[in-house]
Amino acid sequence: LRAEFENAGHGCEIVPCRYAPPDIFKRYDLVGVAFPVYGFRPANNILDFIERAEPAESAVGFLLACCSLIPANSLRRAQKALAKKGVNIIAGITIRGEESWTAVRFKGLIIGRGRPDERDDARLRNFAREVTRRWRMFREGEPVPPVRFKRFSPWGLIGLITTRRAMRYAMLGKFLDEEKCTQCGLCAEICPTGAIRLQPYPVFGEQCMGCFGCVNLCPEEAISTPLTWGRTRYKGHRTLREAGIAPLHS
Ligand SMILES: Cc1cc2nc3c(=O)[nH]c(=O)nc-3n(C[C@H](O)[C@H](O)[C@H](O)COP(=O)(O)O)c2cc1C
Ligand code: SF4
Ligand code: SF4
Repeated sequence: LRAEFENAGHGCEIVPCRYAPPDIFKRYDLVGVAFPVYGFRPANNILDFIERAEPAESAVGFLLACCSLIPANSLRRAQKALAKKGVNIIAGITIRGEESWTAVRFKGLIIGRGRPDERDDARLRNFAREVTRRWRMFREGEPVPPVRFKRFSPWGLIGLITTRRAMRYAMLGKFLDEEKCTQCGLCAEICPTGAIRLQPYPVFGEQCMGCFGCVNLCPEEAISTPLTWGRTRYKGHRTLREAGIAPLHS
């Protein structure tokens, strides 16, 4: 997306929502909110980020949901939460990614394996061009076609009860093997909710939303849950820097 926006002559910054300033919708001409679907709804840290954002007058945004198979009505939920903050969503897309929820990963069966792939990349590039087109229409006062996302999904009903606490409990706890842990601090760096403190070993706080990031990405496999036994782990980008994402206020 960034490449396409830059090709069209626009500046583009990628900001992890953990570091996003509360007035973000006032600062930028266009804000894209990208999120993984966790528990049939937008990840709880994204909904928290929207909740704490300052309302803006007629801000413009777009949505990108990443899921392994079932996005439910996540785009609609994010759109509704953003509308309360005065953000007008002009486009949205769902892209499949490799399942990172360790509980359903098996050696021979990984949902969404290899996604996003080249076709997803092409879809994203087209999407960026469409977003740019609609944004220009909006700026020039032309009517932008309304964006309607799926309102109802039976899976979305489960999404209503998958709160942060429910997701944390569903992990059945996190257990640290101090023999394996090198106190490298990577888990604290990648935790999207800032729930991990090194004291000097990692201690997990109440902000945890059960995303499995720390379990998946610890290089020593020092963090486990009963759900991880015998299953493969998702090894994604290890640090924000490796993903090409610079925190705005690091
Ligand atoms: C806790 C958790 C819950 C998830 N729930 C869903 C879901 O309800 N529907 C779905 O299609 N994918 C679900 N996934 C898969 C993620 O959407 C997929 O892993 C994600 O889009 C890839 O980004 P990530 O690497 O940030 O997890 C879940 C993943 C995790 C970790
Ligand atoms: S990433 Fe693993 S090894 Fe590093 S501090 Fe966290 S638990 Fe310890
Ligand atoms: S599972 Fe780990 S990385 Fe994810 S929110 Fe909880 S403590 Fe942070």
